[in-house]
Formats: sequence, structure tokens, C-alpha cells
Amino acid sequence: MFHIHIVDRSNRGAYRDELEQHYRLRHEIYVGERGWHNLARPDGREVDAFDTEDAVYLLGILPGKGVVAGSRLVPSLKPHLMSEVFPQLAPQGVPRANDIFEWTRIFVVPALRRPGSPCLAAGIVYCGIVEFCLQRGVSQLSIVCETYWIDRLAKLGWSPRPLGRPIEHRGETIIGLMVDTGEAALETTRQAYAISHSVLWAQRHQDPSRSGDFHYTAGAATGG
Ligand code: COA
Repeated sequence: MFHIHIVDRSNRGAYRDELEQHYRLRHEIYVGERGWHNLARPDGREVDAFDTEDAVYLLGILPGKGVVAGSRLVPSLKPHLMSEVFPQLAPQGVPRANDIFEWTRIFVVPALRRPGSPCLAAGIVYCGIVEFCLQRGVSQLSIVCETYWIDRLAKLGWSPRPLGRPIEHRGETIIGLMVDTGEAALETTRQAYAISHSVLWAQRHQDPSRSGDFHYTAGAATGG
């Protein structure tokens, strides 16, 4: 499988090609597959107002294939989707703090998805998100998402909490959520996918005692 590379303002230059590939994949997936036509761009790159220097990308990179999964995290103290576009999802105020990031744009390429059964590729991204948060002192994530994510995230042990009532938007029912990203969330997420080691690329290289790949037990994964 693959590891998660953390790409932020400090190492963006080294990941120029992978970031480009990821913007194009986002266009294929969100515009082409999900039909979010408001995100369509003639250059075939899905880039929005929150793809700024402050955005952190978690890219799943498979050697020889390139980017196969990804997600985006934006500090909540900076402009983000909930603060700028959907503040109505948090009627008591959009949560903003140093230790809160907004999570958007998770994807796995279709070839690695496993409809109807646990998808290790998605599990790697979920674990990478929580590991990133633990590393950077991020204790909660805010999310603008469709309501089906509430059950999904509860199963992962992220304790989703609605910030308000759902609304209808472009044919989807969306809601604002907060989730926890502490050690307990990492433990339950790893268990759900039978992942036993760090999925982060940098982590693996900082610790030479770790083996060349992380381990999981095929067949032991649970959850959707
Ligand atoms: N509407 C309603 N339910 C949905 C759904 C949708 N659009 N997409 C998925 N679900 C349900 C599935 O039916 C499944 O239910 P189950 O657990 O009862 O079987 C559950 O949610 C999990 O779906 P699945 O896609 O298998 O989850 P995953 O964790 O393996 O992968 C993604 C999640 C997001 C990585 C993957 O679906 C993907 O790459 N999708 C395209 C990009 C996208 O839509 N991202 C989300 C918005 S940013």
C-alpha cells in the first residue's frame, strides 16, 4: 500500500508534481464523479479559495503510481469553508482556535476503493489525519459534510458533534460537525482497519528502527 506525505508550506516545493496530480484527481473525482459542477475549471484542476499557503495536504503516494489518495486541512483561524461559505451551519459561532483545523476533500482513487467492505486505502488516510493532528497539537477538526458522515465518523471513534441543524445544498443534505482527533481516535481508527504502525512517510523515515512498510492484518478490518 502507500504512506501519507504531509505537504505544507515548508516542503511544498518538493511536492510540486504530486500537488498538481492531486488537483487534477480532485477535478476528476469531485466534478466528474460526484457531479459538483460548481467546482469545474477549464484547466481541469479543482482548486478553491482555501487552497492557500496555509493549507496542509495529506497525500497518499504509491511509489511508481503517484498520488492515489488525499485530504486537506486548513487552520480554523484562517479563512476556511465553514467560516466563509457555510457559517450558517454553526449558529453559535464557527469554532476557531489554534488547535482546531478544518478537514475537507478526502478521496481515494476509484481503483483502490472497496464498496461494501472496509477500504484499507481510506483507513490509511483516516489514520494519517489523526496522526498529523497528534503531531501538530490539533485536538479537534471542524467539517462541512453530508449527514451520512455522522455514522461513518462515529464508527471510527471520532465522536462527531453537530454544530447545528442540517441544511439542503445543491441537492445534498449537509451539516457542520466537530470531531476529536486524540490518541483514543487513533486507536479506534487503527483497530477498524487493523493498522498497527504509523502511516506517515516522515514518521517512518525519522525512525529507522521501523520496517519498510507498516503492517495490517488482512481480514481483521471492520466497519464500512
Ligand atoms: N451518500 C450516502 N452514503 C454514502 C455516500 C453518499 N454519497 N458515499 C458513501 N456512503 C456510505 C456508503 O454507502 C457506506 O455505507 P456502509 O458503511 O453502510 O456500507 C459508507 O458511507 C462508507 O462509504 P465508503 O465510500 O465505503 O467509505 P470509505 O471510508 O471507504 O471511503 C471516501 C470514503 C470518501 C475516501 C471514498 O468514498 C471516496 O473517495 N469518495 C469520493 C470523494 C468524496 O466523495 N469525498 C467526500 C467528500 S469530500
